[in-house]
Amino acid sequence: MRQIGWIAFAAASGLMSGSPAFAQEQVRTGEYLVTIMDCGGCHTPGALAGKPDMERPLAGSGIGFQIPGLGIFYPPNLTPDPATGLGKWSEADIIKAVRTGIRPDGRQLAPIMPYHSYSRLTDADAQALAGYLKSMKPVQNKIPGPAGPTEKPPAPYLAVVMPH
Ligand code: HEC
Repeated sequence: MRQIGWIAFAAASGLMSGSPAFAQEQVRTGEYLVTIMDCGGCHTPGALAGKPDMERPLAGSGIGFQIPGLGIFYPPNLTPDPATGLGKWSEADIIKAVRTGIRPDGRQLAPIMPYHSYSRLTDADAQALAGYLKSMKPVQNKIPGPAGPTEKPPAPYLAVVMPH
């Protein structure tokens, strides 16, 4: 009886997972996490040059990190565009990449993507973060895949060179 009362209360107050209020709260939490974890500091166009394009948040950076001996790594488009972003990734794929650096194709991301720090995300926070990315407006913006250690950035893309 007591438990039924609690469930009725939770449902009435919108706390049940699956309710629209819960989903809305989760998206708000995800937006908050994306902001304070500074995903945009790398993944928003222009952010690495100090001029973030806030019309296209998280749509990928044309400036990559060149790690001597390893290659050039561009922060990819995280919006749900199917062709150039994460549209084909599931929320579980996103959570795995953020926490472990492993992409759905098995490639390990370069550690400039701070997955070591993000490995401590709680399940609830990871879910909120992935849910928020999936709720964003898709932006078509093609970002080059990683370049090899002896390659140059393909024009018009640039690279910031990390010290040895
Ligand atoms: C210091 C810069 C930096 C920050 C901060 C950062 N990332 Fe990244 N991220 C990268 C780079 C660079 C790559 C590409 C690495 C590679 O290709 O090996 C990447 C790759 C990814 C990928 C894989 C995408 C793909 O198409 O392969 C996901 C997902 C991702 N980041 C999500 C996030 C999220 C979510 C946040 C914030 C919680 C975040 N990143 C913060 C730099 C960053």
